[in-house]
Amino acid sequence: MVAVMKPGVDVVRATQMEDHDQNDWTIVAAAFKAQNADLAARVLAELKRVDRYTFGYQVTRYTHCLQTATRALRAGADEETVVCALLHDIGDDVAPYTHGDYAAAIVKPFVSDENHWMVQNHRTFQGYHFFHLMGQDRNAREVHRGHPAFERTCRLCDEWDQKAFDPHYDTMPVEAFAPMVERLFGRAPNRRS
Ligand SMILES: [Fe+2]
Ligand SMILES: [Fe+2]
Repeated sequence: MVAVMKPGVDVVRATQMEDHDQNDWTIVAAAFKAQNADLAARVLAELKRVDRYTFGYQVTRYTHCLQTATRALRAGADEETVVCALLHDIGDDVAPYTHGDYAAAIVKPFVSDENHWMVQNHRTFQGYHFFHLMGQDRNAREVHRGHPAFERTCRLCDEWDQKAFDPHYDTMPVEAFAPMVERLFGRAPNRRS
């Protein structure tokens, strides 16, 4: 059964965008703003979704994300980088062939160009640790050497991401990172497309 909302104070009158009047648009704009008030909580709920999957590893992809962020935090990374580390594999289940793009799209309005690029391209850099096992060039990331985000993406993958599959590591709970996620997604978004 399809839910239907009756037009009113909080529901637009028009049934197609072409017929929106200014009042309709005021309602939609207010709803968009209200919806985004809990964006951080929704992002964390999405991240929790990958706790259902191990993809053959000893830890779930959720624990892997928490462990990657824990390692970044303990290495002294700044908060924006830690949140990127936390969210880098958020789409591993629903976007298995484009998970870097998926995660990058989520953080894009709230992070630097370099950190956006890092998240978007992290698989190619992580590939140094497994591409050769697939008969591919483990040095594929070298085509990006010289890019402003090259070094930070190496650090994400070499020092934190590729190590974060250890069930015995003292991984910090999501509560340790939630305030950081709140602060990041509470920033004024840069609505570049
Ligand atoms: Fe990844
Ligand atoms: Fe990862």
